Parts: sequence; structure tokens; C-alpha cells
Amino acid sequence: MTTLITGARGRIAQAVINRLHALGLPLRAASAHPTALTVPDGVETAELVLTRPENFEAALRDVRQVFLYPEPSGIDELIKAAEAAGVEHVVLLSSSSVLGPDAENDPLASHSLRVERALASSDLTCTLLRPDAFAGNSLGWAHSISQGQPIRLAYPDAHIAPIHPDDIADIAAEALTGTSLTGRAVTLTGPESLTFREQLALLADTLGRAIPVEQITRAEAEQQMAHHMPPPMVSSLLDLWEAADRTPAAIHDTTHTLLGHPARTYRQWATENAPAFTPH
Ligand SMILES: NC(=O)c1ccc[n+]([C@@H]2O[C@H](COP(=O)([O-])OP(=O)(O)OC[C@H]3O[C@@H](n4cnc5c(N)ncnc54)[C@H](OP(=O)(O)O)[C@@H]3O)[C@@H](O)[C@H]2O)c1
Repeated sequence: MTTLITGARGRIAQAVINRLHALGLPLRAASAHPTALTVPDGVETAELVLTRPENFEAALRDVRQVFLYPEPSGIDELIKAAEAAGVEHVVLLSSSSVLGPDAENDPLASHSLRVERALASSDLTCTLLRPDAFAGNSLGWAHSISQGQPIRLAYPDAHIAPIHPDDIADIAAEALTGTSLTGRAVTLTGPESLTFREQLALLADTLGRAIPVEQITRAEAEQQMAHHMPPPMVSSLLDLWEAADRTPAAIHDTTHTLLGHPARTYRQWATENAPAFTPH
């Protein structure tokens, strides 16, 4: 029984591949660019682009379950091909944003929500992993911190409960190898609510040097963020952080509640990733 991992160059997909490979399970890693993939010996690779259904049959041959990155374009065709190939179970890397108000029109949530709905109307058993903010989002600060520049934020006191990518991967591996999560929808967070200012203080402590934080206006943040993402995404993120300003984040399912072992902390993530924040 082969497990297909889509989006295989992604950080979470790579961690899931390593876990399933260590258990000796037959795997196929599918990517838009399979030649650029690094996979352990013995892991098959396949090309999978959702807008190119001609590749679906080969990617899905002998596959019984899929770890799926949410991509709505072509999802209906992929689901039909999966059903025809005999796939039984899909574990989706969705997002907690699907639970937000007006998720259908929210650019952060809508692509995951469309994939969730397509899966819900299929014959496949679906397990939905809905993580909140990834700890790895802090890598967006890496350049400024390594250059000794201040971090400029409109809402430095907005709370999130950052989740370690390895916790998402552990939960995904359990969803693909065990039965405790099958068919469930779980909202995943890290173990603690932290403001951006507190995250930066933890990073500073780990690095052994101060990281100045500068509060800027929403308009200044819009300008700054527009270099990296489209305007609707910028507004959506700023709305989210404004709503989270000085408001502790809810802690939902963690590796502790789902798998019974302690969730990794943001400090652990910061320690492991310290080199990314250090001048090269
Ligand atoms: N960041 C958050 O706070 C957050 C919160 C909740 C949910 N999510 C969801 O999590 C997913 C992102 O997960 P992730 O962090 O594992 O993804 P990632 O590392 O950002 O990669 C996303 C995808 O981009 C493709 N890709 C293209 N060029 C790449 C490159 N040079 N290196 C690596 N990947 C490349 C890969 O697919 P191919 O191999 O097919 O090209 C990969 O699966 C998104 O669907 C997002 O909605 C994120």
C-alpha cells in the first residue's frame, strides 16, 4: 500500500516523508518539480501539478492514502482520479483559518476551504489537519535580525500560539499510520500563547543579542508587506493580528492532547533555527 505525499519539497511534506520512510512504509513523493526533490533512498518520485491531470494516473498508481497540500485548482479531477485508483484515505494539510468568519472570502482561508469542501463531497475518508500559525513564519524576520535591523510591526502585542513544524509532521504521521485521527478534523496549535514581542525576546535570548522592536502604523505595515504578498492577503493578515492584539490565543489540539507527548516549544524552534538569524 503506497502513500503519496504531495507538495513534497515543502517543509512539512519533507518531515512526513522522513517519518514514514523510517517506518519502512512504501512512499511516493510528488512535486511540481520532482527533479529538484531530495528524498531518502528507496522513495519513489512523481510529477504532480494539479492543473495537469494527465499525470494523475501515474502518480496515484497503487496508492491507498494521500498526504495532500491544499490546492483548489484541479482538485475535483484529482479526487475523481484518486477514487478511480482505489485511494481510501486523504490527510489534508489545511489551516485553522477555515474556521474564521467569512472564510469563503478570506484569501488566507479560501483555498484550503475549497479543498476541504471538495473532499467532503467525495467518497474518500478525510482527515483534516488545521494548523494555526507555524513557528517557521518567524523566518520572515531572519534577514532583518541577521543584519541587526529592528523588526517593524503594526501589532507587536498580537498573540499567536506558534506550532513547531515537527509537531505537525508527527501528527500527520500518526494520521497516516494509526487510527486515532482517522476521519477527524483537528485544530493544531503550539503549547503556549506568545505575542510577537515575546517571540522576538525568546529569539534574542537564544541568539544572545538584543532585537529591537519598532511599532509602526497599519499603513506603514501595509507598504512593508506589499513587497512580499498581494494586497488582499496583507489586509487579511493585518485584520487577524489586530483582532489578536493583547488577546491570548486559544490553545487547541497539540501533540500533547493528540499523541500524549509534550509539544515542542517556540524556544526549542528558536534554538534549532538560530543559524538562520545569524549573519553568514
Ligand atoms: N504558515 C502558516 O502559518 C500556515 C498555517 C496554517 C496552514 N498553512 C498551510 O501550510 C502549507 C505550507 O506548508 P509548508 O510550510 O510545508 O510549505 P512550504 O515549505 O512553504 O512549501 C509549499 C509548497 O511550495 C512548493 N514549492 C515550490 N518551490 C519550493 C521550494 N523552492 N522549496 C520548497 N517548496 C517549494 C512545494 O510543492 P512542490 O514540491 O509540489 O513544488 C511545497 O509543498 C500551505 O498550504 C498553508 O496554507 C500554513
